[in-house]
Amino acid sequence: MAETLQRNIFQRLLGLSATSKPLDDQCWTFSDGKIEINLNLAKELTAIGGAVRLEKKQLPENILVIHGTDDKYYAFNNKCKHMGRRMDPVPGTQTIQCCSIGKTTYDYDGKAISGSGKGKLCKYPVEKSLDRLVIRLKS
Ligand code: FES
Repeated sequence: MAETLQRNIFQRLLGLSATSKPLDDQCWTFSDGKIEINLNLAKELTAIGGAVRLEKKQLPENILVIHGTDDKYYAFNNKCKHMGRRMDPVPGTQTIQCCSIGKTTYDYDGKAISGSGKGKLCKYPVEKSLDRLVIRLKS
């Protein structure tokens, strides 16, 4: 059984994710199929285990960006394969988990390892250079 992120029943019922949008909305841009994140401004991603959810700005889908426990960055389509709710990283593990009751849990490859969701999340390549992350939604 996968580790569980501590959330109360109301948060689970309402599908409220623990991960927020960046406090500084200027920390990221999206154009020509490419997300760029300025890590100097995206303070939520500084520490291992940190995460942000990116939404709007003409994005074709919502994106979850995490600073993994292996010190690498990952980006996923933020839509659980069960019923489409958002996800959060589970502290101290190399997994992300749906915020809903079903708690479908995925590994860093996006593969469902427990819960009602089946299959694989769409995962996007993340390139890091100095203080910048680049995520390409299309190749
Ligand atoms: S929507 Fe994710 S487990 Fe149900």
